[in-house]
Amino acid sequence: MLDPKLLDQIIDVAAISALKSSLLKGKGDKIAADQAAVDAMRTQLNSMSINGKVVIGEGEMDEAPMLYIGETLGKSDQPKIDIAVDPLDGTKLAANNQPNAISVISISEEGMLLQAPDTYMDKISVGPNLPENIVDLDEDVKKNIKNLAIAKKKNTEDICICLLNRDRHEHFIEDIKSLGAKLKLISDGDVAGSIFSALETSNVDMYLGTGGAPEGVLAASAIKCLGGQFQARLKIQDDDEIKRAKNLGIKDFDKKYFLNELVKGDVIFCSSGVTDGELVSGVKLKDKNYEIETFALHYSQKFFKKVKKKYKI
Ligand code: FBP
Repeated sequence: MLDPKLLDQIIDVAAISALKSSLLKGKGDKIAADQAAVDAMRTQLNSMSINGKVVIGEGEMDEAPMLYIGETLGKSDQPKIDIAVDPLDGTKLAANNQPNAISVISISEEGMLLQAPDTYMDKISVGPNLPENIVDLDEDVKKNIKNLAIAKKKNTEDICICLLNRDRHEHFIEDIKSLGAKLKLISDGDVAGSIFSALETSNVDMYLGTGGAPEGVLAASAIKCLGGQFQARLKIQDDDEIKRAKNLGIKDFDKKYFLNELVKGDVIFCSSGVTDGELVSGVKLKDKNYEIETFALHYSQKFFKKVKKKYKI
């Protein structure tokens, strides 16, 4: 089990990363906004008394200056912690000052998070209190919607499915429309998109589609804390990706991962708003303090809360 005291520190990691990145929001430079978030996260994590290792990062081995897979962080020998980061999910959103850019991190005990390469991943998620495997990654989308509607005692027309607005999802979009169900299309940021499926307040019943694998493991961390369901499969597309997946110990490229295989044990998840969004509000400057909202979750403590904290720079 992760020490509950780590939660406050991880809230600060996400919040300060969001703060530093927000200073570059609307400046049209997504790389600079991302780098600011990366640098802040690295500094914060290095100040913690942990022996941390990045298992989900911005790039793979030796891809400094990003937080790369395998990078070690922290100033102690113990506890050994696995770290998954997406310092800025929605780099374009932040650069263009559009809603839903967030800083994201999750941590677990050593070996408890899937070490996924930075490839695409097929994903499906739903919220809590539903029969196990009520939806299935390999099932036809219409069947999934119908099954979900029955379980939620809703009409299929009232089921809302969140997807990234991409050409590759056109067949899903057509099926959803033909069934008369509702779409929620997002331009970017599928960590939040997937989390919506597990939050009653969002009116999203299911998240579906292909997005980044790192984002998938992060979203799974949150969905686990929220009691939802998540299934995923890596989408390995070429020889380079095969090599990178093999380097991380992945042997079966077609494996369907269930939530407890993506996130095996206790997990802490935090995401802080860079720009205003449906999950958290963006960074606000108030009386020379920056107010930052963080969606903070700790699985074993059954803790989930939006936390507002003030920071100075
Ligand atoms: P970045 O923040 O790295 O730009 O990623 C944004 C994002 O929308 C992710 O949330 C999502 O998983 C991925 O891009 C989808 O990739 P693509 O834009 O190639 O469809």
